[in-house]
This record gives sequence, C-alpha cells and structure tokens, in this order.
Amino acid sequence: MNKLMKTIRIASALVCAIVVASVQANDAFNPILKAEVTDDVAAPAIPKVIKNDVKQKRNYPMQPPVIPHNTRGYEVNTRVNKCMSCHSRDRVEESQAPMVSVTHFMDRDGNFLAEISPRRYFCNQCHVTQSDVEPVIENTFTDSKHLMKLSNQ
Ligand code: HEC
Ligand code: HEC
Repeated sequence: MNKLMKTIRIASALVCAIVVASVQANDAFNPILKAEVTDDVAAPAIPKVIKNDVKQKRNYPMQPPVIPHNTRGYEVNTRVNKCMSCHSRDRVEESQAPMVSVTHFMDRDGNFLAEISPRRYFCNQCHVTQSDVEPVIENTFTDSKHLMKLSNQ
C-alpha cells in the first residue's frame, strides 16, 4: 500500500472515531436523539431565562460576566446594537447599567479607541444569559481560589 493510501485510511478512521464519539456525547444531552425515527417524542420545554437582575460571581478573573436579564429580541447587527443603548458610556446614567469595560475600547494592539472596538461589538459572542435548569451532566469545576488552597497544602 502506498503512503498516500495509508494516510487517507488513517484520516478516515479518525474522522469515524470522532463522529461516533460526538454522537455518543450528544446522546446524554438530548433525549430526542435516543428516540427511534418512528417515536413520537415531545420536545423538551424551552427553559426559563434567569432574569433576577442579580450580578453573578465570575469563576475566574477574565470571565465575561453572565447576563442577569432577558435579552430576547435584543438585536445586534451592523446597523443597531441594542446592548449599547444601555451599556455604552453615554447611556449608563439613564439606564443604570454597568458600562462596558475599558478593554472593550481596545484594538488588538492595545490602543484605546473612542468607540467600542469592532472585536467587542457582538456582545453575545462572550456574554450569555443563564437558563434555570439542573446541570445535564455532573460538573467538577473547581474555583481557582480553592485550587490555590489545595496546591498550598
Ligand atoms: C434596557 C437596558 C439594557 C439593555 C438593552 C441591555 N442591558 Fe445588560 N444590564 C442592564 C442593567 C440595568 C444591568 C445591571 C443588572 C440588572 O439590572 O439586570 C445589566 C447587566 C448586564 C451584565 C452583567 C454585568 C456584571 O457586571 O455582572 C451583562 C454582562 C450585560 N448586562 C450584558 C448585556 C448584553 C450582552 C446586552 C445585549 C444583548 C444587554 N446587556 C442589554 C441593562 C441593559
Ligand atoms: C470577545 C469577548 C467579549 C465581547 C465580544 C464583549 N465582551 Fe463584555 N466582557 C468580556 C470580558 C472578558 C469581560 C471581563 C473582563 C473585562 O472587563 O474586560 C467583560 C466585561 C463586561 C462588562 C462588565 C464591566 C465591568 O466593569 O464590570 C459589561 C457590562 C460588558 N462586558 C458588556 C458587554 C457588551 C454590552 C458587549 C457588546 C457591545 C460586550 N460586553 C462584548 C468579553 C467580551
């Protein structure tokens, strides 16, 4: 068998393994995926968004804070940015929302711009609301504060 064929075989075996692994992982998350094609399965209810206006803890210093209010229908496109109508520098007095952080004015070279940087324009790339649900799988995340304590022991 020549080298090229061998490489192609190995590559396709890898792709298959990844596909199988991801289908198995998805199974645990979505009951619909476990159903047969002919089964009549009710779609799970859309979970409620947590909108208690209470600031959440950040799990590490650089974490984008999660959004504690509803964002349904808030448009962010090339013409309008609903988020900035409350979170921009000149709107926070009226809205009482926290201003976007100064890092949001920096370009990738660390220069401060007068307006929000294009790379921080699409807020939902980083900031998300939270759903009022039980975790689908067990989460063993440990806060860095506790990790430091453990490593000092
Ligand atoms: C109508 C005004 C308004 C709009 C529009 C709005 N926000 Fe907010 N936001 C607030 C206020 C006020 C708070 C402070 C907490 C609260 O009252 O919910 C807040 C809190 C936040 C926080 C939490 C900050 C922290 O330090 O914990 C984030 C993140 C956030 N908003 C992101 C967004 C994003 C992203 C959008 C657009 C999809 C958006 N907001 C649209 C008013 C607004
Ligand atoms: C590329 C990721 C990214 C994007 C896009 C982004 N943010 Fe952030 N945001 C962060 C991170 C990380 C932090 C926390 C560290 C910091 O302040 O830079 C943060 C902090 C914040 C805070 C808290 C500020 C404070 O001083 O407590 C607000 C409010 C916020 N962002 C709103 C927004 C809004 C509104 C948009 C869209 C216009 C946006 N962000 C876009 C990553 C992002």
